[in-house]
Amino acid sequence: MNLIPNDPTPAEDTTTAADTGTTGRRPVLTASGLIKAYGRVEALRGADFELFAGEVLAVIGDNGAGKSTLIKCLSGATVPDSGVLRLDGRPVQFRTPQQAKDAGIETVYQTLAVTPALDIASNLYLGREIRKKGPLGTVFRLLDTAAMRRSAEEQIRKLGIATLQDITQPVETLSGGQRQAVAVARAAAFGSKVVILDEPTAALGVRESGQVSELIKRLRDNGLPVVLISHDMPLVFELADRIHIQRLGRRAAVITPRSHSMEDAVAIMTGARPA
Ligand SMILES: Nc1ncnc2c1ncn2[C@@H]1O[C@H](COP(=O)(O)OP(=O)(O)O)[C@@H](O)[C@H]1O
Ligand SMILES: [Mg+2]
Repeated sequence: MNLIPNDPTPAEDTTTAADTGTTGRRPVLTASGLIKAYGRVEALRGADFELFAGEVLAVIGDNGAGKSTLIKCLSGATVPDSGVLRLDGRPVQFRTPQQAKDAGIETVYQTLAVTPALDIASNLYLGREIRKKGPLGTVFRLLDTAAMRRSAEEQIRKLGIATLQDITQPVETLSGGQRQAVAVARAAAFGSKVVILDEPTAALGVRESGQVSELIKRLRDNGLPVVLISHDMPLVFELADRIHIQRLGRRAAVITPRSHSMEDAVAIMTGARPA
């Protein structure tokens, strides 16, 4: 289990919940005992994972700890050798990213999947285009551009992305932070259950990172739980409700910004201190 050493919260029957303040909250996405080997490299060696409703869960860990592999198992990009995934308590198996998307799990990978030549609205609806009603749409496959623009605008406004003003602007004319905002907005628009962000601020400047961090808070406030993979400790400690520390292919601990310092987190991450 993932006990927090010296945590002042009195223990209840489920240790993880009591220690991390999640008692009574609903797990949305969980994994238990995930194993994934690439040849002789064991990327995951019995990894557990729990995401609760309404939280930002950060996932941290040294290079090679299995963070990306864990996320790929949750998002259907990789099929684990064994272990069980549950979404809203029901066992699920994702063989493809599309299956995870269909189940409401959207992932923004570090290598951004935006299409530079298309405008913002088209990027939001890439692969999920709205067609015109009737035979124009069903037979001639005509796109309902106006409808896509309207709802893209609404989505961007709902998320309070002030940096994106003109929905018809080609994405190639946007800054790194604005592109990231488009990718996150798309995930938020279609991720009905979970949004996973892999290093969303890695390529961004300070101001742009601030914008993405505001966006993540807004997602949480809109009720979407967010999984945030990041090396950026100040960002993690600013945003996360709980922090999953991945080490040597397993979850070594779950801590919170209240229970532990950044130094504690790094010490557990590197193995300098037992979890
Ligand atoms: N496609 C792959 N083929 C072979 N080895 C891989 C592959 N993906 C990851 N690994 C290995 O699995 C381990 C965990 O990698 P990864 O999940 O990317 O860790 P992290 O994201 O925490 O840096 C590493 O030793 C890595 O080299
Ligand atoms: Mg990685």
